[in-house]
Amino acid sequence: MGMVHARMLGRLPEAEQILIADLDPARAQAVADEIGAKAVATVDDLFASGLDAIVVAAVTPAHDGLVRRAVGHRVPVFCEKPLAADLASSRALVADLAATDVPVQVGFQRRFDPGYLAIRDAVRAGELGWLHTLRACTSDAAPPHASYVPTSGGIFRDCSVHDFDAIRFVTGREVVEVYATGANRGDAFFTEASDVDTGMALLTLDDGTLAVCTATRYNGAGYDVRLEVCGSKNTLVAGLDDRAPLIAAPASSQPTGEPYPGFLERFALAYEAELRAFLRVAAGQAQAECTAHDSLAAMLIAEAATESRITGKPVAVSRT
Ligand SMILES: NC(=O)c1ccc[n+]([C@@H]2O[C@H](COP(=O)([O-])OP(=O)(O)OC[C@H]3O[C@@H](n4cnc5c(N)ncnc54)[C@H](O)[C@@H]3O)[C@@H](O)[C@H]2O)c1
Repeated sequence: MGMVHARMLGRLPEAEQILIADLDPARAQAVADEIGAKAVATVDDLFASGLDAIVVAAVTPAHDGLVRRAVGHRVPVFCEKPLAADLASSRALVADLAATDVPVQVGFQRRFDPGYLAIRDAVRAGELGWLHTLRACTSDAAPPHASYVPTSGGIFRDCSVHDFDAIRFVTGREVVEVYATGANRGDAFFTEASDVDTGMALLTLDDGTLAVCTATRYNGAGYDVRLEVCGSKNTLVAGLDDRAPLIAAPASSQPTGEPYPGFLERFALAYEAELRAFLRVAAGQAQAECTAHDSLAAMLIAEAATESRITGKPVAVSRT
């Protein structure tokens, strides 16, 4: 993700000078050479250089420490999701950030996807009426490497967390309860990591709207991320473009494009829009669209979903 963001920043005229640091200096140098930026040896060098803004895309356990350092130096920070590796660190960080006015933006890029944005606007304008059902899916075409699975946090924290955030975003409502389940019909390494390869979470929102979030690591038809939002007046779908891997039966008019290979291609526009938005935030021209509080809220839903899958019982979602 750091390379994705660096390449994007390299194309944005708003970013006048880019410095790159990584624990692996060769990696930082390679990206810097590619985009015409400067690599520095350590993160300390970054902070010593008089930054206007910083983008954090290191491994997840490093996030909260880097965000704290940025805020300590009064440098506006964009941090990839999640803001911290676990619930306790996230709660502590969100509590500490309440005392600062340094902007912090978190990387839930679906908030910048044109489809999700259009649905959010339509819901706000009352065009869908009252909502009865949301259907969200995050379907990977193929599983990640077996070594990643035990580090992923499980399918709800790793994949569905984007849908949990998107549902809060488009509805403007909070999730109060989750009932989740999962299945393993693919490779054994999911079971061995106490995870599932397919998960389903039923969410109840604070106004009674119901949402179902499905996630799988084995969608043979291709990478598929959609959100259907159905109301008393109308229904809108994000992600139903020419590359959606959906085949009508019996055959009729249907998407004809090649499915997106993965999230980088599917959300290319959104990744650009979120960084442009962050640069406006860093320049003091806008408020952060996706805050530390939003990151914690999505994580709390993922925690409830994980607990529900394990216990088999509905779980109330904590608000803090
Ligand atoms: N928003 C999205 O769609 C999305 C998608 C993928 C990953 N992510 C998030 O992006 C983050 C990075 O994921 P990735 O797949 O790029 O990981 P990665 O392991 O490929 O890369 C992480 C990089 O961070 C460097 N690093 C580790 N600790 C560091 C530190 N303390 N200081 C500086 N550099 C450090 C590593 O050397 C490595 O180059 C994760 O938090 C992940 O959750 C978000």
